[in-house]
Amino acid sequence: MTVRIAPSVLSADLGRLSEQIDSAIAGGAEWLHVDVMDGHFVPSLTFGAPLVRALRRLTTLPLDVHLMVERPERYLAEFADAGATVFTLHPEATVHVQRHLSTARELGMRAGVALNPSTTVSLLEEVVGDIDLVLIMSVNPGYGGQSYLPRSTDKIRRARALLDRLGSPAVLEVDGGITNETIAEAWGAGADTFVAGTAVFGSPDPAHAVRELKRRCAVQV
Ligand code: DX5
Ligand code: ZN
Repeated sequence: MTVRIAPSVLSADLGRLSEQIDSAIAGGAEWLHVDVMDGHFVPSLTFGAPLVRALRRLTTLPLDVHLMVERPERYLAEFADAGATVFTLHPEATVHVQRHLSTARELGMRAGVALNPSTTVSLLEEVVGDIDLVLIMSVNPGYGGQSYLPRSTDKIRRARALLDRLGSPAVLEVDGGITNETIAEAWGAGADTFVAGTAVFGSPDPAHAVRELKRRCAVQV
């Protein structure tokens, strides 16, 4: 398993977005994470499909779109058209989760489910055939710069065990509070993909920040 870093543009300087992305890519970032917030499911408002469309013109990197919105199914077609690679929804935000995941795939995207800290891992058993990615929230979503919740490590371990037991090749991604101090623990528990906002774009040198996150996993054996 190799470490994959998905810097979150939520923490980027939007006035220098292109430069900031180039720096993250120079450091080895494999994906870009886009946090879509609607002011309802979470308190903040951020961006929508137009930003994904703009990013799609700036880079060929997979665009990992995380929808923290009520009824995310309303935006499936719009994000597919804008060039989203992964469409990750919160099951807490909608009713017919399985249907929406399968629609995401039909539209040519990869389908992800994000689990809030209080949402149980066992939900994955019901949708495992319909998902390409599991996003374990290691903070309560809504803001960048929060601290990693220690209980997340055990949750990652349980999600890893469940996916392995069911033979799922789904990506296991962690989101929230990933820093040089926390990434190795999450990696050791079985996650393979790491969202990092503040740790990458809060740094004066995003390339170095990405390299350092990877190094922390490499030394933890
Ligand atoms: C939190 C978002 C995260 C956020 C992570 O609600 O889903 O993706 O950008 O930010 P950091 O890495 O600063 O915790
Ligand atoms: Zn996110």
